[in-house]
Amino acid sequence: MNNLRPVGIIGTGKYVPEKILTNSDLEKMVDTNDEWIVSRTGIKERHIAAPDQATSDLAYEAAIKALESAGMTGSDLDLIIVATITPDSSFPSTACILQDKLGAKGAAAFDLSAACSGFVYGLASATSFIQSGMYNNALVIGADCLSRITDYTDRNTCVLFGDGAGAVVVGEVPEGRGFKAFDLGAEGAGGSLLQMEGGGSRLPATAETVENKKHYINMNGREVFKFAVRVMGTATIEVLRKAGMERTDVDLFVPHQANIRIIQSAMQRLELPEEKVVVNVDKYANTSAASIPLALVEAAEEGRMKAGDTVLMVGFGGGLTWGASVLVW
Ligand code: ACO
Repeated sequence: MNNLRPVGIIGTGKYVPEKILTNSDLEKMVDTNDEWIVSRTGIKERHIAAPDQATSDLAYEAAIKALESAGMTGSDLDLIIVATITPDSSFPSTACILQDKLGAKGAAAFDLSAACSGFVYGLASATSFIQSGMYNNALVIGADCLSRITDYTDRNTCVLFGDGAGAVVVGEVPEGRGFKAFDLGAEGAGGSLLQMEGGGSRLPATAETVENKKHYINMNGREVFKFAVRVMGTATIEVLRKAGMERTDVDLFVPHQANIRIIQSAMQRLELPEEKVVVNVDKYANTSAASIPLALVEAAEEGRMKAGDTVLMVGFGGGLTWGASVLVW
């Protein structure tokens, strides 16, 4: 990958909806408490989309900021990829809705489904398109409205999720910078551990599927936890190997924000000190595809990386999937 055209991130933006749902709000909705949620997950609050906001609306807010920070407008884009598992509707894609709203006339646009790993899958796709010379500028967005598919009577899941969007413009960067390696993967055999069964061609929406709560996230938390701890470690080691780097080369570690205990186990395994790790799961909870870009963009806004720093992003999610990348900022 090192001999190819250098491709990296040239603009960033993020958006979370205004409404905040705290742990004490949840205490009034299900049999839970702040102490359990904080100690088991690290989450204190999460942002929830307004009734009139859909995923494309969150994505749009993040996208215009990313374009502005890149000094671009929609007409500069050749490609729009939206990583999401909560598209506005099955079709048209959320990416096509955005293409219209952003005035990105003629740009290719598609949605990508890899749950919480979706943003890294999107970065890898955009980078490949640009390195091949097919396109020059791509907008990659991770956006999800998990609140729309969360059962707020199920304490096992409803405390974990929030809504948001993070966007980056991907394009050519100076020599020596940009993406150095990706490691993407999947274990489809574990698909049923984390799924929303209803609403597709297998189980189209009927009164019965609604009655049986088939349009909500269903998760085996313990098994997903084990998978997460395993692949956060293995994917990080593998992507560093592909990039020809050591774990000590990492300046900033940007993990998927699902659970502080999963992040801590990766930190221990990789012997990463706290100051090198981005954590905002306390404020936003698990925002699925938006989680990694929200953490990356927030870190950029806080001035936590400087040109030349090595940034390692890694996530896992439904599918089951994982994705990791090494980026020289
Ligand atoms: N409040 C109080 N008690 C609760 C709550 C709650 N909100 N939720 C579960 N409990 C109870 C359980 O019922 C259980 O009680 P029991 O022992 O009487 O049965 C007890 O707490 C402990 O349950 P565990 O499942 O063992 O709790 P654990 O420590 O594993 O934490 C958690 C659960 C937070 C879900 C954890 O397993 C986890 O984070 N898993 C990974 C989830 C994840 O990352 N999902 C990714 C989704 S990403 C995507 O693609 C959308």
